[in-house]
Amino acid sequence: MKIAMAADHGGYELKNAIKAHLEERGYEITDLGVNGPESVDYPIYGEICARYVVSGAADLGVVCCGSGIGISIAANKVQGARCALVNSEYAAEMCKRHNNANMVSFGGRVTAPEDAIRYVDIWLDTEFEGGRHQKRVDLLNSL
Ligand code: RB5
Repeated sequence: MKIAMAADHGGYELKNAIKAHLEERGYEITDLGVNGPESVDYPIYGEICARYVVSGAADLGVVCCGSGIGISIAANKVQGARCALVNSEYAAEMCKRHNNANMVSFGGRVTAPEDAIRYVDIWLDTEFEGGRHQKRVDLLNSL
């Protein structure tokens, strides 16, 4: 399973904490940057990661910015990206079970690394339910 990751300056430390955990779990990670505190524009990194996932170069994507909001908005502008801003165990589970989220977003200034790691594990370990939710995911993909 290949996972692409990207972040801005507000999220790169959280990205790197999640990355270390996912590598320990055996996932193949592509780090699309950034890796330093210099100010950058989160729409660029949300788009890069979403295009990487939608192209099939990675199976899933994880993006981080300061709040998790801007970079998720950017990712969701790419057709086929379903990026969920996750800040609870419930959101982590439901974004996979019902929305089949192929990306998740976290805020480095709002979510502690141990919480984000717990949420990302729940997302990865939850199965998409399909059934009536498939039609809704198809509708999302058509937008
Ligand atoms: C950068 O200061 C900040 O605006 C960004 O990381 C993110 O929180 C935007 O949604």
